[in-house]
Amino acid sequence: MEELNLVLLGPPGSGKGTQGEKLQEELRLPYYATGDILRAAVREGTDLGRAAKEFMDRGDLVPDELIVGMIAARIDSEEAADGFILDGFPRTAPQAEALAEKLEALGRALTVVLLIDVSDEEVVRRLGGRRTCVESGHVFHVEFNPPKQEGVCDIDGSELITRDDDKPEVIRHRLEQYQAKTAPLVEHYDGQGLLRRVDGAASPEDVCEEIRRTLATLRLEADEAI
Ligand code: AP5
Repeated sequence: MEELNLVLLGPPGSGKGTQGEKLQEELRLPYYATGDILRAAVREGTDLGRAAKEFMDRGDLVPDELIVGMIAARIDSEEAADGFILDGFPRTAPQAEALAEKLEALGRALTVVLLIDVSDEEVVRRLGGRRTCVESGHVFHVEFNPPKQEGVCDIDGSELITRDDDKPEVIRHRLEQYQAKTAPLVEHYDGQGLLRRVDGAASPEDVCEEIRRTLATLRLEADEAI
């Protein structure tokens, strides 16, 4: 496989960020998480951050036109020449279309879309207990992945907070948004033969191992096709 252009798809709280962090290290590819990029823009008070904040706090999707350019520029960058990991993008049919057009213009294509599958009940449990570091967005869970010291990020020592959109009523709305706008992409990518499902209900280590196996199989298939 010459390059690895990977999308992590799945409901809020399915573990995309948790796996994205691991994959970024293992695959040595740039990792673009739209939620993290938007939260950084909110913290820095940029035009994008100011425009996105009200949508994010409500659990609504930020309008496509604000998102598409932000990702297109990153995919087109030197650091993404050997591939990339996208987390949280695409999330709507127009975003998927824009991504396909951008890649086609660059003479590239997606390699795989990994769907991390979990139930709504599990999403509510996970997001209710999630703690996120204010500095870099590293994620912990009070029960499943507690930090060594309560309220402090193991990795960079910054404060751990509960995200504004992890309140129960906002979590429910985010799940509705996922079903209405993002879930149709599962069928879309399945139809293109790009989708691989991963059981997100397993432990983070087991989910990661299943992803490794899936990527190894893809590499084998690509080698055999040459
Ligand atoms: P975003 O930050 O992308 O939120 P999300 O997709 O809802 O995903 P999360 O970050 O909530 O969860 P995750 O799947 O990464 O799970 P995590 O690994 O943290 O987006 C936020 C907002 O930005 C959106 O609502 C929208 O407004 C806007 N936005 C972003 N992208 C956009 C786009 N493309 N278009 C328009 N708007 C956009 O895990 C969750 C918790 O579970 C953690 O505590 C973790 O420790 C724990 N955990 C993880 N894996 C496991 C496991 N296997 N077992 C037990 N616990 C686990």
